[in-house]
Amino acid sequence: MDILRFSTAGSVDDGKSTFIGRLLYDTGNIYTDHLAKIKKGDKLSLAVLTDGLQAEQEQGITIDVAYRYFQSKKRRFILADSPGHERYTRNMATAASTADATVVLIDAEKGITTQTKRHSCIASLLAVPRLVVAINKMDLVNFSESRFFELEAEFTKFAEKLSFKDVAVIPISALEGDNVADKSKRTPWYEGKTVLSYLEEIHLIADKNSIDARFPVQVVLREGTKRFFGGSVVSGGFSVGDEVTILPSLETSRIKSIIKTDGKAIDRASVSSLVNFTLEDERDISRGDMIVRSHNRPHAVSECEAMLIWFDEKPLSLNREYFVFHTTKQTRGIVRELSYLLDITNLKRKNADTLGLNDIGRVSLELARPIFVDPYDRNRGTGSFILVDVETNQTAAAGLIIERFSEKDRKEEIIRKQGHVATNITESKGEVSRVDRESRLGYKAKTFWLTGLSGSGKSTVSVALERELFDGGRLVYRLDGDNLRHGLNRDLGFSDADRGENIRRTAEASKLLNDAGVTVICSLISPFEKDRKMAREIIGNENFCEIYVATPLSVCEERDPKGLYKKARAGEITGFTGISAPYEEPKNPDVRIDTSTETLSESVGKIKQIF
Ligand code: ADX
Repeated sequence: MDILRFSTAGSVDDGKSTFIGRLLYDTGNIYTDHLAKIKKGDKLSLAVLTDGLQAEQEQGITIDVAYRYFQSKKRRFILADSPGHERYTRNMATAASTADATVVLIDAEKGITTQTKRHSCIASLLAVPRLVVAINKMDLVNFSESRFFELEAEFTKFAEKLSFKDVAVIPISALEGDNVADKSKRTPWYEGKTVLSYLEEIHLIADKNSIDARFPVQVVLREGTKRFFGGSVVSGGFSVGDEVTILPSLETSRIKSIIKTDGKAIDRASVSSLVNFTLEDERDISRGDMIVRSHNRPHAVSECEAMLIWFDEKPLSLNREYFVFHTTKQTRGIVRELSYLLDITNLKRKNADTLGLNDIGRVSLELARPIFVDPYDRNRGTGSFILVDVETNQTAAAGLIIERFSEKDRKEEIIRKQGHVATNITESKGEVSRVDRESRLGYKAKTFWLTGLSGSGKSTVSVALERELFDGGRLVYRLDGDNLRHGLNRDLGFSDADRGENIRRTAEASKLLNDAGVTVICSLISPFEKDRKMAREIIGNENFCEIYVATPLSVCEERDPKGLYKKARAGEITGFTGISAPYEEPKNPDVRIDTSTETLSESVGKIKQIF
């Protein structure tokens, strides 16, 4: 039987203790001595079961989370229950951090509280896949269908912004046993599952990360010359014979053997297993290193974006050092920026200077040494860390790594490594080739790439060139920077990266047109050497002519056809090429023209000469 881990949180008021008691009682998990205690009253006083925990709390013994093990006919369960006192966020987070599901209780009479919202929000942030919203005390509202649907609608609206795979809203009475383990006859209008059957039927494998194999090394043991690397598989799986890479050294080897804690050798270790590996080669590995499959590696980051759930009474200090514990590695880090604080009542972002107890906010973290991470929503093990106060040694916060990169940076990195973002794509070849098209048309299609400052005359020259080539019988088409920025490239601005992407897309479009037999005249500032080089590579050296429109800046600025230089000088446009952004002159253009010293037809003539 597999094990489902779920968490609950909250206070006795919500009926949480009664709910837990009911669940244990109805699944036959309550021992006789407890039962004797319980049966005394008129009603089952199921809350008695959790008294032990509360007593411990009052004595100041730090039990943040109580784990209960029980089973039904279909499944075993671990319930991580956190009591609701003032440090509840920390407990809640601890309980939810490994949960496959979270149960929140709502009192049908009182309705949705801030605590309910906070709890749901934290469970969602912690990537708990499924949420059960038990609308409790239905007996006190006469099992009112309308009250249930009212609360369901209200909660569903709130939960829209959360990222659960599934949310089940269930009407229950923990006290009287309706829809906890047994289907209630008093809710004929409710067609869904009971809480227990919902928990029993969750498909666990689907919710686990079984892809990214990650093994942070906890201990290194020696036995003679042999070395064993011990730890727990935080995600994915490893088999004997797998090629692995060791981080940070990037050395590779193969897994020679996998040994369980009881000494038995196994062929494969899957998520959560505690094992020792031996490798085929002698490698220098220590605690904090990570063993991963060679073709699937986490990112090494020394800066990252994260959500912090603040646990400490002492608020966050920006630009001050904290210990950072990530998997089995420890380093130091500094929170450089707090982008926003999350208002958990409406999930809106607020500006803030710091984070206090129970606050949640997004920060940029800088690390003393790189760590190997996956985004938290993909990997709870390698995507989370703990901040510890260096003076008090108190746990200050839990951190959930969002992403090192912006989406665009991430894609760029993938493109650099693999050529494209999509996988499982194959090229389909047609029967009409470029040569077929060229022989029908009687000429080879080329790309004329005009680069130069704004106002240098690129567009004017390209319009005249297009006319002449067209009149001479060619299929010809202009791709103009300003024009493309109205359509194909309208999502791009003028940052260096955006200009690069502008050039890449234009070059790809040009290549397609060339392939179709159309000669293309591109006119874009294209200020960077590396981007023009990329365009040449995309289009193909043999089809690419670089034309440098070398009209001096002073002339361009005097012409100022669109009034942009004036604006740029006045500081109304930032990063304007030639004024506040660089233009790298081409060193070896195929043709160089200067519209300040030659006539339009002279310029066009020079270009036509290279046909
Ligand atoms: S490129 O640098 O990415 O190659 P592109 O040729 O597409 O530029 O677009 C340049 C045109 O955008 C200019 O002719 C001008 O009309 C307009 N423009 C607006 N802002 C800027 C800027 N900051 N720098 C340069 N051009 C700008």
